[in-house]
Amino acid sequence: MSTSSSFFGITLGSSTSTFKNLLLSSHHPTQIQVSSHPFPFLPLHLPKTPIFNPKKHNLVTASSPTTPQSPPKSSFRDKPPKEINVLVVGSTGYIGNFVVKELVNRGFNVIAVCRENSGIRGRNSKQETLNKLNGANVCFSDVTQLDLLQKSLQLLGVSIDVVVSCLASRSGGVKDSWKIDYEATKNSLLAGRNFGAKHFVLLSAICVQKPLLEFQRAKLKFESELIEEAEKDDGFSYSIVRPTAFFKSLGGQVELVKDGKPYVMFGDGKLCACKPISEPDLASFIADCVVNTDKINRVLPIGGPGKALTPLEQGEMLFKLVGKKPFFIKVPIEIMDFAIGVLDFLANVFPSLEDAAEFGKIGRYYAAESMLIYDPETKEYSAEKTPSYGKDTLEEFFKKVIEEGMAGQELGEQAIF
Ligand SMILES: NC(=O)c1ccc[n+]([C@@H]2O[C@H](COP(=O)([O-])OP(=O)(O)OC[C@H]3O[C@@H](n4cnc5c(N)ncnc54)[C@H](OP(=O)(O)O)[C@@H]3O)[C@@H](O)[C@H]2O)c1
Repeated sequence: MSTSSSFFGITLGSSTSTFKNLLLSSHHPTQIQVSSHPFPFLPLHLPKTPIFNPKKHNLVTASSPTTPQSPPKSSFRDKPPKEINVLVVGSTGYIGNFVVKELVNRGFNVIAVCRENSGIRGRNSKQETLNKLNGANVCFSDVTQLDLLQKSLQLLGVSIDVVVSCLASRSGGVKDSWKIDYEATKNSLLAGRNFGAKHFVLLSAICVQKPLLEFQRAKLKFESELIEEAEKDDGFSYSIVRPTAFFKSLGGQVELVKDGKPYVMFGDGKLCACKPISEPDLASFIADCVVNTDKINRVLPIGGPGKALTPLEQGEMLFKLVGKKPFFIKVPIEIMDFAIGVLDFLANVFPSLEDAAEFGKIGRYYAAESMLIYDPETKEYSAEKTPSYGKDTLEEFFKKVIEEGMAGQELGEQAIF
């Protein structure tokens, strides 16, 4: 990975004013503030665990094979949360932000890695990011560049116990999916391991069970390499969390229906179903995975409370809540197939249309595939087999959106998911 990028600078920040004053220059990384404190950039609430010295350990790099080793059996799980350093990447995303809040509330030392301009289309400034990640130690760096990420962690001067990744391509485009859902996530594993991480919690997606899309293939490749890493080293473990649909992905028609517009669905509205989960409930489940031993080395599909809901049922719920007579528009799914066929053909001729074709496929996938446990043999989805967690219901979420709108529930850059 190159370090010659103009974004060479590493800045660390914290929501505490003391730490904010210790920012490194983003353009002149050599201008490090001199201090008598051994770790001048260390926020005071990070425990001063010894610096992890990668030279003393078997470095895990993309190219060097790791020799199986027997790490000390004493576990970070024996420590109180305030002594456990958790590195969160993807901390500024829809779920990542709630994961940071939840981990901070549970008393962990959270190091949240973010970009200087975070959020959808980079609209959040550094200060806004610091405000959103209140209580965490914010480390401005670049997860897409392994050397830069490692340099940032080195400057923190602490070892990492657990990495939590909520990274995801914001667009779902082909190249961006591989860059983020695979490469940047892998960088977080490599960097985390080099700084001592003994556990990795991955936010994945239930839809990878039936991979037809590039972001699913990218996620699956990382999942398999993560599992391999744990197989090679019994001192390292993982928890792979595969949630069903998020509330934000189902709220897109609430305001339209409230305004008297029809509810649009594909086929008969029963082509797919999901057990939606709220961001606080999912964040709580992910936080459980940080220390709970029953979640070690497991792939964990997870849905929200209650029964699975089809788009038809979601629409009916919505009309009832707004007190209007149901008014559905049913769109044949074949229309999407035709559009995707055309886009796929054009993408072969004009590679710049590759992402447009992929977005069509993502839309088609979500219109017809359930976000539930899938049995590849029977080719059927099962609501019964999909575990439930949490307490927030879609009905409560719809009520909130009816009253307050969709603020804070915006979809990603392509408004697909
Ligand atoms: N939507 C659903 O219904 C659903 C259901 C199940 C599973 N999932 C999965 O859940 C995961 C997280 O979703 P989410 O909605 O929380 O994602 P999100 O809001 O789009 O957040 C993505 C995170 O990744 C970071 N990121 C993206 N590109 C980056 C880049 N080039 N450099 C550095 N950081 C970058 C973002 O940082 P910035 O803020 O700097 O952009 C952000 O922190 C995804 O893997 C998704 O597939 C989604």
